[in-house]
Amino acid sequence: MKGMIFTELFELIEEKFGFELLDDVIMESKLENDGTYAATGNYQFSELLKVVVSLSNKSGVSIPDLLEVFGEHLFSKLVKSFPHLVEKQSLLHFIPEVENYIHVEVKKLYPDVELPKFEIVKNEEKTVQFYYISSKKLHHLAKGLLQGAATYFNENADITMDASDDTRVLFTIKIA
Ligand code: HEM
Repeated sequence: MKGMIFTELFELIEEKFGFELLDDVIMESKLENDGTYAATGNYQFSELLKVVVSLSNKSGVSIPDLLEVFGEHLFSKLVKSFPHLVEKQSLLHFIPEVENYIHVEVKKLYPDVELPKFEIVKNEEKTVQFYYISSKKLHHLAKGLLQGAATYFNENADITMDASDDTRVLFTIKIA
């Protein structure tokens, strides 16, 4: 996982829960580098899980809810970090773009990252349906990112997921 994912998560924890709780989470998670991350460095995915589990225990907020809120926050940060990759368009046009262009370019920049795959099954005027496929099982983060994207494009989107198989989660996005 890129360091920026950790630094953005820490910023959000501090903003929502305060510095003391963030400090407790970092201490409890026993992170290899004591919670210091370089934005472009690459770190173990297991470190992120430790942070999220500890945060959930300390805050009483469920892990899925934490990941969704974080995804929503992260979207605008990703756009700020990679402005050249995101064109201002519509959410439904943007989703295939993430798979066919944005994540492809991200992988060229950082060959060491593991990105999810989106398998588009329906692409209509008001509805897009796709499978999120990843061994990381971060579909709740994906849902938050999609919500963040809807806000960014100023669109009213209904986002549902069927996670009965959590390695292949079906997302349905309908625009009002
Ligand atoms: C709504 C749109 C998007 C969705 C649903 C999405 C979904 C995800 C998810 C769930 C991950 C975590 C890895 C995994 O699940 O296997 C990820 C990783 C990543 N995405 Fe996206 N993404 C979106 C848009 C973007 C955009 C706009 C950018 C940058 C311009 C971006 C850059 C990245 C980067 C850098 C990572 C790497 C994280 C790491 O492993 O270090 N994504 N994406």
